[in-house]
Amino acid sequence: MLDKSRLRIAMQKSGRLSKESQKLLEQCGIKINLQQQQLLAFAENMTIDIMRVRDDDIPGLIMDGVVDLGIIGENVLEEALLTRQSQGDNPCYVTLRRLDFGDCRLSMALPMDKPWNGPKCLQGKRIATSYPHLLKQYLDKLGINFKSCLLNGSVEVAPRAGLADAICDLVSTGATLEANGLREVEVIYRSKACLIQRSGNLSKTKQSLIDKLMIRIQGVIQARE
Ligand code: PRP
Ligand code: ZN
Ligand code: MG
Repeated sequence: MLDKSRLRIAMQKSGRLSKESQKLLEQCGIKINLQQQQLLAFAENMTIDIMRVRDDDIPGLIMDGVVDLGIIGENVLEEALLTRQSQGDNPCYVTLRRLDFGDCRLSMALPMDKPWNGPKCLQGKRIATSYPHLLKQYLDKLGINFKSCLLNGSVEVAPRAGLADAICDLVSTGATLEANGLREVEVIYRSKACLIQRSGNLSKTKQSLIDKLMIRIQGVIQARE
């Protein structure tokens, strides 16, 4: 069993944020022994446990109060928030700060040969995405009706596979879109990594450890600017 008195931090196990998340924690002086396949890692020099999970699971772990801190992309966080709200929940968390990595954007993309003259072209179209709530929030505001096709991965193959007319997916370098004959036509959400905390009171020792970490994070980020 995990020792609940130790501060629990969730970070992505493998993916766009994992290396930078690990680097940030290390630069804050946390000595972690991360063995590749391990879900849990213990800091050797501080009362901190690191949980390495799918990024998509991090917002829920925070909202359910299972971990104390999490490093997560705002896109994933916002989608999780909208999902829970749509289920009638009132999820809570605290954003401690935005971080200086994990830049990406959630964008609409179309097959190269399809014309684009603004979001109105999407009226009645089927759009593949892993972010149905962010997409709906955006298109609802514009009064555009659409059908969504929920895919948790390989969204970029949907148009070629005949599953959708367009996609709404994360873009960082644009290489994935290009490799799949798609072009980015509209950015709907800009995201960075952020540090979040579960709501509710933490023990005095955990809180002072967080205070100390926040000062160190500030220093690390400032030094990189
Ligand atoms: C995103 C997106 C694309 C890729 C785009 O996935 O789904 O696959 O990144 O990046 P590029 O523009 O640099 O080619 P990501 O790995 O971030 O998320 P996931 O693994 O959590 O789906
Ligand atoms: Zn993911
Ligand atoms: Mg992906």
